[in-house]
Amino acid sequence: MVSICKRQCFFAFILILGMWAFEVASRELQESYMSARHEQWMATYGKVYVDAAEKERRFKIFKNNVEYIESFNTAGNKPYKLSVNKFADQTNEKFKGARNGYRRPFQTRPMKVTSFKYENVTAVPATMDWRKKGAVTPIKDQGQCGSCWAFSTVAATEGINQLTTGKLVSLSEQELVDCDNQGEDQGCEGGLMEDGFEFIIKNHGITTEANYPYQAADGTCNSKKQASHIAKITGYESVPANSEAELLKVVANQPISVSIDAGGSDFQFYSSGVFTGKCGTELDHGVTAVGYGETSDGTKYWLVKNSWGTSWGEEGYIRMQRDIDTEEGLCGIAMDSSYPTA
Ligand SMILES: *[C@@H]1O[C@H](CO)[C@@H](O)[C@H](O)[C@H]1NC(C)=O
Repeated sequence: MVSICKRQCFFAFILILGMWAFEVASRELQESYMSARHEQWMATYGKVYVDAAEKERRFKIFKNNVEYIESFNTAGNKPYKLSVNKFADQTNEKFKGARNGYRRPFQTRPMKVTSFKYENVTAVPATMDWRKKGAVTPIKDQGQCGSCWAFSTVAATEGINQLTTGKLVSLSEQELVDCDNQGEDQGCEGGLMEDGFEFIIKNHGITTEANYPYQAADGTCNSKKQASHIAKITGYESVPANSEAELLKVVANQPISVSIDAGGSDFQFYSSGVFTGKCGTELDHGVTAVGYGETSDGTKYWLVKNSWGTSWGEEGYIRMQRDIDTEEGLCGIAMDSSYPTA
């Protein structure tokens, strides 16, 4: 008995030792695989870290994010996919702080109620894509600057300008970043699209991207360039809040600035499909609704132009679920929208 037990114990011990060694080896393998992936990812996106400590810190974040993204995609229970994109070495907290830049002064300013020129619109097309109508410029990239509000203001202005003049001209975000200090607008520290429109109106126009190119940093206003008035708007209107039906009336007629809560991890790593959340309604990002449609399985969506480059999402765009049960819309898309008038 004793000797049998000894043998069993011995084998059990060998087995446990073997399992432990396997565990350690596979963990090391996984670690070195992840590390190689991180290196490759750094090369792809041209990432450089200041020192080894920074790299180690970023690697840990990268690894966590990759694990999250892959388990999300493997679960496959959502109509959208995530990807290990250029934001993969940033924690969600850091990402939220550095990227967005929509300042909603909840306490200080009530939503402005304006006239609504589309109030009596009854018939709208089943689908709309302003890109196909030539009213949308290529995707831009705000970089590490909270200037989303300027990109959203400009995209809506480019749209109305094309609709009234027949010419699609890429306009200057940097002019807004440098020269606009209307209301809440503070360059890379954030702003509001309504205040952006206000600036363009008071300035009697805005110049081109080519004349006043984007720098992804706050700069001194170039008043000579500011005096070039290539595109003009005469006013702007806000959409009655919390109604996707009202928003639809506008998007059927022109691209429009919308505000969303883009602070979630799923938004950070969105890569394709119809986005259905998770997200809240703490508006922190300004983007542009440039169309709407419905997938073959009947999911309705808004077509939204973002300003995070073409490597994010569907070539820089996101399709966000439309006509959801809550009146604010997905990520608050129906809460605070505005459009320029010609
Ligand atoms: C919408 O219709 C009402 C009632 O006919 C009218 O008073 C109002 O001016 C119309 N609004 C617009 C923006 O045309």
